[in-house]
Amino acid sequence: MPEQIQPKSAEKPGASPSPAAAAKSNSSDSPEVVNRQRRRLIWTCLWGYLGVNFLMFLRYFFPRALFEPPTIYNAGYPADFSLGIDQRFLQSERCWVVREPGRLFVIFAQCTHLGCTPDWEAAQNIFHCPCHGSEYDSEGVNFAGPAPRPMDRCFVQIDPSGQIVVDTSRRYIMDPAAGTNQFNDPGAYIAV
Ligand code: FES
Repeated sequence: MPEQIQPKSAEKPGASPSPAAAAKSNSSDSPEVVNRQRRRLIWTCLWGYLGVNFLMFLRYFFPRALFEPPTIYNAGYPADFSLGIDQRFLQSERCWVVREPGRLFVIFAQCTHLGCTPDWEAAQNIFHCPCHGSEYDSEGVNFAGPAPRPMDRCFVQIDPSGQIVVDTSRRYIMDPAAGTNQFNDPGAYIAV
């Protein structure tokens, strides 16, 4: 019996491609597909633009601002302080409360040379700056080292309840070189 020859599925060399194959190969180049891709690109750009603007709009509600801690605090009653230097607000408010016979004032604990926090040396009755060695007496007045002037004092007053209110943002300075002395101004101390 003669062997049956099956037709080959492969196209003959040189023959033109079938219509389905041609349509498949040209589908990505058809005007409709190109238009669709363009539309998709345009919409992507548009949504991206709107998204960025929306984020910028939201950013408006979160300003790049420094939130400083409150500068006003209640220090208690004058009777809470005995004569001398009180350090209870040094860590929290960077202040010393100083009580002398007849007056109470608050020294802002910042060296007037380059801003370090001096140490209170009770045994020597002085403030000593650990950075460059400036020294201040018990009223915060400089007498040694590179500090150019006494440490600043903070605004103090007695509120209606009889307690001491301190505002560290309002300072009183003494600067002998400039001929300035605000240490006896109202608000620089309270009479006790
Ligand atoms: S910062 Fe205090 S002596 Fe320099």
